[in-house]
Amino acid sequence: MNDIQSLIAQMTLEEKAALCTGASAWTSTPVERLGIPEMTVSDGPHGVRRVEDVHSLAMQSLPATCFPTASALASTWDADLLREMGTALAEEAIALNVDVLLGPGNNMKRSPLGGRNFEYFSEDPYLAGELAVGLIDGIQSKGIGTSLKHFAANNQEFQRFSINAEVDERTLREIYLPAFEKAVKKAKPWTVMCAYNKLNDEYCSENHYLLTDILKKEWGFEGLVVSDWGAVHDRVAALKAGLDWEMPGPQDWRVKSVVKAVRAGELDEAILDESVRCILGVVFKAQQTPKGGTFDVEAHHELARRVASEGMVLLKNNGLLPLKDHQHIAVIGRAAESAHFQGGGSSHINPTRVAVPFKELQAQAGNAELTYAEGYPVDNTFSQELIDQAVTLAHAADVAVLYIALPSYKESEGYDRTDLDLTEQQVALIQAVAKVQPKTVVVLNNGAPVAMSAWIDNVTAILEAWMMGQAGGAAITDVLFGKVNPSGKLAETYPLKLSDTPAYLNWPGAAGEVRYGEGLFIGYRYYDAKGIPVLFPFGYGLSYTTFAYSNPKVSATRFKDVDGLTVTVDVTNTGKVAGKEIVQVYVHDHKSELVRPEKELKGFTKVELEPGETKTVSIQLDFSAFAYYHPKYKQWITEDGEFDLLIAASATDIRHTLTVTLESSLCLPCLLDKESTIREWTVDPRGSVVITPILQKMGETSRQTFGGDGGSEGMGMDIMEMFLDMPLLSVLLFQQSTLPVPADEMVDGLLTKVHDKN
Ligand code: BGC
Repeated sequence: MNDIQSLIAQMTLEEKAALCTGASAWTSTPVERLGIPEMTVSDGPHGVRRVEDVHSLAMQSLPATCFPTASALASTWDADLLREMGTALAEEAIALNVDVLLGPGNNMKRSPLGGRNFEYFSEDPYLAGELAVGLIDGIQSKGIGTSLKHFAANNQEFQRFSINAEVDERTLREIYLPAFEKAVKKAKPWTVMCAYNKLNDEYCSENHYLLTDILKKEWGFEGLVVSDWGAVHDRVAALKAGLDWEMPGPQDWRVKSVVKAVRAGELDEAILDESVRCILGVVFKAQQTPKGGTFDVEAHHELARRVASEGMVLLKNNGLLPLKDHQHIAVIGRAAESAHFQGGGSSHINPTRVAVPFKELQAQAGNAELTYAEGYPVDNTFSQELIDQAVTLAHAADVAVLYIALPSYKESEGYDRTDLDLTEQQVALIQAVAKVQPKTVVVLNNGAPVAMSAWIDNVTAILEAWMMGQAGGAAITDVLFGKVNPSGKLAETYPLKLSDTPAYLNWPGAAGEVRYGEGLFIGYRYYDAKGIPVLFPFGYGLSYTTFAYSNPKVSATRFKDVDGLTVTVDVTNTGKVAGKEIVQVYVHDHKSELVRPEKELKGFTKVELEPGETKTVSIQLDFSAFAYYHPKYKQWITEDGEFDLLIAASATDIRHTLTVTLESSLCLPCLLDKESTIREWTVDPRGSVVITPILQKMGETSRQTFGGDGGSEGMGMDIMEMFLDMPLLSVLLFQQSTLPVPADEMVDGLLTKVHDKN
């Protein structure tokens, strides 16, 4: 630390300004005379995309293991597995001379149309936060840095460089920030990458509230904030907002603008020094990990295979899977020969090798006879001929396995999806094959939900294999033949149709703005609130075995929020094969001042069980499991009252409900003011003491004035009910003739009383 301070003292203004912008697309600016080395960063997130020459604009990257993308990782619900994968990523970064890996991405899946959803974990901030912590921990445990991205509200590709995301404070705090907050606080990523877009009228790169007030001050982030590539508009404004490092470089004029601003007294040099301090902290930390050597290509490929199989989600199975050998399997679909295992854009990895699904099937199929038909063309043309060939093959076989990959023109970084559909040819292919072959399995490769209503009832089994990484072809086979019992569960809801989705009316925005009009209600929070049926719920996934839940318990039925609770439940494998179950705990608040989602995920665990085996799983719930963000108090609050703890196998498969009573430890400030309504006065404990006698008196007066009993039926309405949502002052103004003092004086007097009691 002292060394860094003394280095800063020795640096010229020009050197400091230069350090705050990259020297190339992937490297920081070294200062040789002071021994400040260069630092190299690379994408990320599910593999190391180390371009051969980091100082050139060449795009060709060195071979590295392509692990499954975030949608698949999230479906494992296994932070420990992600930790393990993180260590492998770090080993590759070390071998490839990379100091910081640009990932993970941790934006929320606001709409299934988001082109980059394959790179993000979930629609749920709790799950996304836990998984990001696992991955970051794993990578950083080996001395390689991470870059948590894209901070924040970068939830679409449409106009991603400029769109203004309008998000209200509570929605930001409860939905779009918590996964970042958890990762920053628990895993301490070395760097955070700010998003391209604007958030509430300011570019994230110039957003002081986001980068300094929240990230650095509130959450205590100690690393450096890097811009997304090309996200800086005004370098000086960005520095003032807390954006330490601009990428990519070189940007000589930016450096000059910083020097000029300091000299002109427009930028306090202390601000520049602070960014230099943050950058040097990471540059020197990176130095502590010697680079070079090799990595174990084979072992990492095997790990990628295991991760892929853990993330695959069995969506439907009418008893056909696992497949048996000794039969004729028609393998249909281009994706069987040409594996679709990653998405397009900055995360695109040059894999060390690729498991071809068809070959992997051949390798494990024993005595089965395999035949292959392409099924659909590489482009968006329609070919009846390919469908006819596939039908002939399927008809002659005992089983048809269709490998269907969503083409990259429909899903990639850089553009959003316009629908949830497979291609017309793919839908026609599935329908035609299923017509002649009653035993049809569909294996899907995609990064986000697709609509299935046109064909789901015609097929026997569906395996969601995601963008499964380079070893995914083998992982599919492992699952199809039962070598691996599928245990993945969805980290995002599969809607029935696009118009059912939460952001449908506010997507993707226009005239430079996108309004997050659905507020807190994304994913299952929305479907719950509106009672909209879905294709597959959040948290859903089948297994080749079954699980029973019994003996649910909670550590206390009445508890203090700060003490939290422990929920336990026995899970038994009631089937014939070993398997893993993901147990979820959602919390439902009976009553709250502000509207809350019907239920929210607040804990989960994955448990492995032999047939007949029972294990007790235990899930901790802390203060945050019960709290919500109150924009008026500007903090997370709890309220006294009852909560249901829902022990569930998915968001719609609730196995047990336990009811507990929470006692809040908070002593919240009184928020009553001149505009507060009668209802607000009565709800506030201090307000109700002073307002109750006044209300009683008002009741009597209105009875005398308007007649009626207890209300004021003389006007055909209950006057007291009407008063409830009027400001106290306005109500008193109607009663002025009966008051001893002017109405405002009276309200001022009452306000003094309640605020004195704070
Ligand atoms: C992407 C980032 C990526 C960066 C560097 C940007 O366009 O949004 O996720 O890390 O490029 O490739």
